[in-house]
Amino acid sequence: MSNSNSIEAIKRFPFPFAGDSYQYSVNIQPVVNEPILDVDEHYQTEIKLRNSILDRNKTGRYVNLPHMKTAQWDTLEAIMEDLATHYSQFFTLHQKGDRWTWENKILNVRDTFAFLDESSLPYEPFEYIARQVQEDIILLDQREKDLFLDAGVLTFPTKWSIEFDAGMSFEEFHAPVPRAHQMGVFKKAKSFLRRIEIGKPWTRRNWTMTVNRRLDTSFETYPAWGKDRSSVTLDNCGAKVHLRVEVQRFVRLPRSNSLMFTIHTYLISLEELSINPVWTKRLHEVLKKLPSDIVQYKGLSRYRDTVLTWLSQNTLEPEYTNLESTVYSRSL
Ligand code: HEM
Repeated sequence: MSNSNSIEAIKRFPFPFAGDSYQYSVNIQPVVNEPILDVDEHYQTEIKLRNSILDRNKTGRYVNLPHMKTAQWDTLEAIMEDLATHYSQFFTLHQKGDRWTWENKILNVRDTFAFLDESSLPYEPFEYIARQVQEDIILLDQREKDLFLDAGVLTFPTKWSIEFDAGMSFEEFHAPVPRAHQMGVFKKAKSFLRRIEIGKPWTRRNWTMTVNRRLDTSFETYPAWGKDRSSVTLDNCGAKVHLRVEVQRFVRLPRSNSLMFTIHTYLISLEELSINPVWTKRLHEVLKKLPSDIVQYKGLSRYRDTVLTWLSQNTLEPEYTNLESTVYSRSL
């Protein structure tokens, strides 16, 4: 993938901290007059990467239980409509009854198919559309007052496996997360998610850090990236260590009543981040105070101290304070 962000991408980076400390919370906000999905300057590189990962090991990255057929079509429709509405220069959707024509000008794709007729598409509807977006997508079946991870495509995970989590309930797939269960965060979050309505999407952000600009931090590829965490020095820290932010969206699907959960992962190196001293100062404070069980869970133990030193030496005077995120202007 491309090794850096343009200045525009840096300016719109979804910086995750509204204050100087971080604790697990539900931190969910409505999405108003914004697209669900983001098409940014990394679109082509990331789509190429997603497709190569799926081609190499679909079983490990793609889950689709048989009762999720309707949710698949819901997902295809929601995504096509979102892209065609918000990025009409790249995507168009023409619907004539059940006969739909989808055009993706970036990828040179133009397909006419019959809605709800799987045989008219080159892939299953969910896989077809997932191969054209930068977001990982999880589909949750809502039943028995719970949410079950019954479908998904996950090529850019932060250390979890969709093959392992397939079929699990909300609290089950969150089991490895420290302290949030005891704080009642997941109980509250689930109760909220179950009540999300059609046409009223919600969003939240999650964050961690990754060494090198690597989206695919899956268990499967651990041998390729695990050792990188021991390679951080004060000299290479600014270029190597990245703040990793997931912009997550939650959308109620109309036919299946399933919940669509999208994850757009953004990476920014500390050097890129440091053009905004508000960000570096805040990240320094957050990391300094981060409880040790969360440091360990996020895999930061080996290089947090080096990052703290680098941040304290590379925070400029706040002459660029107007660089606070513009697109994601609501503080989360
Ligand atoms: C409904 C869609 C969601 C799915 C499918 C999902 C899935 C996951 C998974 C698989 C993990 C990694 C667990 C592991 O280490 O194996 C995770 C982490 C986490 N999730 Fe969720 N999640 C969802 C929604 C939420 C919501 C609404 C919250 C709000 C509280 C939340 C809070 C968290 C937190 C705090 C972590 C730990 C992240 C970290 O410290 O890096 N999740 N989630």
